[in-house]
Amino acid sequence: MSAWLAVVFFTWLIARNSQVYFSQPRAHGFVSEKGALADDPLWMAALVIHVAAGILCLGSAFLQFFRTVLRRLPWLHRWLGRVYVASVLFLLTPTGLYLALYAHGGAAGTVGFLLLGALTATTTWRGWAAMRRGDVRGHAAWMLRSFAMATSAITFRIAHVGLQLTGIDPEVGFLTALYLSIAGNALAAEWLLQKIRKPEMTKRTRTRYHDENHHPVPIRPRPS
Ligand code: HEM
Repeated sequence: MSAWLAVVFFTWLIARNSQVYFSQPRAHGFVSEKGALADDPLWMAALVIHVAAGILCLGSAFLQFFRTVLRRLPWLHRWLGRVYVASVLFLLTPTGLYLALYAHGGAAGTVGFLLLGALTATTTWRGWAAMRRGDVRGHAAWMLRSFAMATSAITFRIAHVGLQLTGIDPEVGFLTALYLSIAGNALAAEWLLQKIRKPEMTKRTRTRYHDENHHPVPIRPRPS
């Protein structure tokens, strides 16, 4: 629950700090740092669409992991899911991949963002495809991975600000925060999936190794 509240809070914070992108984009520190790029209408359009899609994507995911919404309001889950998948695949990652070509941190920054874009798009696509073929478990697992990639936008900003406070070289801090947030979020998703699967395994093993009178059958090691 605290992780969920943190995601809600940081999404709100990103949305609040990004308002200026929609009214006076040039007034934002991030844009003014970019120099001549700010005069490129394609780059500016990509940035504004990217920011809007990021907020839409995180906003549409808030309720998706609640069992109550899944069970009682399946239509809401379906519609929010469509908004999430469409915003990631058609808006967020294409614009993110384009912005990556001009990102901070030179080639290492570009590679990091291209990797993030590829992982976000692939996990989201696999989550959607799993649901289309009725694989509910696969759908849940890939969507959790997709959300972990999307929320790296949050952990990146936390790590970036934290590293800046240490007085580290700005470029090193930026790249460290970028790669740390991608790797950290990916590992957190795998850890969470392991944690969810373990009790299921134990339960299945327990029911499998009982005889017809519900007496436990001792598990013998296989002869080698
Ligand atoms: C839902 C998640 C995301 C949100 C909310 C988000 C939001 C933002 C915002 C607000 C900016 C402008 C910079 C700033 O104000 O800090 C930005 C820049 C950027 N984002 Fe995202 N983003 C998300 C996901 C992604 C993904 C998946 C990629 C992968 C391709 C990506 C790539 C980029 C790039 C390359 C930049 C420009 C960085 C630079 O020029 O240094 N973002 N994003």
